[in-house]
Amino acid sequence: MAERIPDEVIDRIRHSIDIVDVVSDYVQLKKQGRNYFGLCPFHGESTPSFSVAPEKQIYHCFGCGAGGNAFSFVMEMEGLTFLEAVKRLADKIGIPIQLPTYQPQSSIHKPANKMIEAHELLKKFYHHLLVNTKEGQKAFDYLIQRGFTAEMIEEFEVGYALESWDFAMKFLTKRGFSPDEMEQAGLLVKRDSDGGYFDRFRNRIMFPIYDLQGKTIAFSGRILGEGQPKYLNSPETVLFNKSKTIYNFHRAKKHIRKNQEAILFEGFADVISAFKAGCENGIATMGTALTDEQAKIIRRNVESVIVCYDSDEAGIEAAHKATHTLNAAGCYVKVATMPKGYDPDEYIQQFGAEKFRQEVVEASLTLMSFKMQYLRRGKNLQNEAERMQYIDEVLKEIGSLPKAVERDHYLRQLSEEFSISLEALKQQYQIYRFEKKKKDNAHWNRNNIARQSASQTKLLPAYQNAERILLSYMLKDQHLALRVQDMIGGSFNIEEHRALAAYLYGFYEEGHESNISLFVEYLPEKKLVHLVSELAMMSINEELSEQALNDYVQQVLNHPKWLTIKEKEKDKQEAERRKDYVKAASIAMEILQLKKVLK
Ligand code: UTP
Ligand code: MN
Repeated sequence: MAERIPDEVIDRIRHSIDIVDVVSDYVQLKKQGRNYFGLCPFHGESTPSFSVAPEKQIYHCFGCGAGGNAFSFVMEMEGLTFLEAVKRLADKIGIPIQLPTYQPQSSIHKPANKMIEAHELLKKFYHHLLVNTKEGQKAFDYLIQRGFTAEMIEEFEVGYALESWDFAMKFLTKRGFSPDEMEQAGLLVKRDSDGGYFDRFRNRIMFPIYDLQGKTIAFSGRILGEGQPKYLNSPETVLFNKSKTIYNFHRAKKHIRKNQEAILFEGFADVISAFKAGCENGIATMGTALTDEQAKIIRRNVESVIVCYDSDEAGIEAAHKATHTLNAAGCYVKVATMPKGYDPDEYIQQFGAEKFRQEVVEASLTLMSFKMQYLRRGKNLQNEAERMQYIDEVLKEIGSLPKAVERDHYLRQLSEEFSISLEALKQQYQIYRFEKKKKDNAHWNRNNIARQSASQTKLLPAYQNAERILLSYMLKDQHLALRVQDMIGGSFNIEEHRALAAYLYGFYEEGHESNISLFVEYLPEKKLVHLVSELAMMSINEELSEQALNDYVQQVLNHPKWLTIKEKEKDKQEAERRKDYVKAASIAMEILQLKKVLK
């Protein structure tokens, strides 16, 4: 393996990579003017304050202050070292490189790497067993009889774990994996009696579970036919966090982007079936309720989500919950429904792909229609009391709709269906509307206060603003930077500004031209990288006039003098308090002198 990655190679990668592409793998970006905006992946938010500047090849979040270039983005997103990030991006654009053998401060800790390696190897072997061996025949037949095709088995890398207590155990130890580590990876189980290890997955159809980038981090093993548990999953490990895992996300991502829509299923059998049926934007949770974290990941990639859960009682309840979670994450939600008792997989088996696409996916209900159906369940609407309860519940929901046209639409629908005058409905509904407004106002006020205080932190003292503006010009123009070096040198008042200026002078003295994206790699601290991205995103005029330059420089240089004056003024007051008027007068003279220099 190579000892190090040559600088030319890193440069080539830097030049070939586009930060918009890199970020787009994680965040849905919309172009606005010169820059792109999206929801920040580093902190939770529902209005986009994360921006990417293609011209400068940097990103910056106005909300949390994160920022940097394409490498630092991948480093922060994935917890990688610089070299690992370089490798990741090189792979992305197809430049072959090898990481140095010795990587001192790898942040992906080694056991996790080993665990992934073991999963990848086992996955391939399980797959081989399923498709090529006599032992796997029974499992293969079961899958085919269930409607799986050979292509689906290939695409989703389905496999088979032998009916053996020590197959994986031997397979892994022979390849140098430590049983203890493999137990922590969830692949082996430790026997209480003698401390030996045995295979967790035996005689099961193996579905690899991937992380958001497509690395195999867990398995789910289905029993052949009936039995308990139907699916045996890897336990939670360093690699596998169920509440953050979204099945098939890495494969569906580009389809989700293209369709501007994701379909959320309950199980991965559904994802695979739907994929075959031409719905390639399907994802699923791991058999657990959709978490806020998963919803946030989804929202960062797409706004519109169709929830397509089983149409039994449990499925409808789960769908109802999922719509809430998605809504709260800022998603626009629709719900696909099927005849009672079906799950998407079974529906596709029975009615075919086209019918599934047309009558389930494309016929998805709006969230409101779904809620109306949901509220209707178990009620006998012939019964007056139950009917009134239903209408009341629906009105409450209508009251919480954000758009007037929508509210009007559903009010009319309700009025027609139950032959109640629109007037009567409106009267009742105004009460709910009022309650909702009260809630919104409280919410709005809270938000607004937060926003105000955020912008107040930007209402900075003049000298501080002057330093920021100077630095942001210096980042863009090496000649200006060298002039400022002559005028101010290291006399910036804010410590971080001083540090940044020093690095910038050094960068230009090495012969670099202005290159913000490259410069950030020279900075030793994330804090400074974030500051650079923030300053680089400041909107400043193209040209800095001589007059303005001198003013800013003066403000920076004068600040310490103002501080001295303030000190002196205090001294003077103190002297006056002591009735030492001679002293006070002499200080007053000094102050006058100092102020004269400032003017
Ligand atoms: P379902 O019971 O709906 O399974 O559970 P399914 O997707 O229809 O699978 P088939 O068609 O019977 O093979 C939905 C999801 O719940 C999780 C799995 O992730 C499954 O996809 N689950 C279910 C488990 O984790 N363990 C179980 O024992 C059952
Ligand atoms: Mn099923």
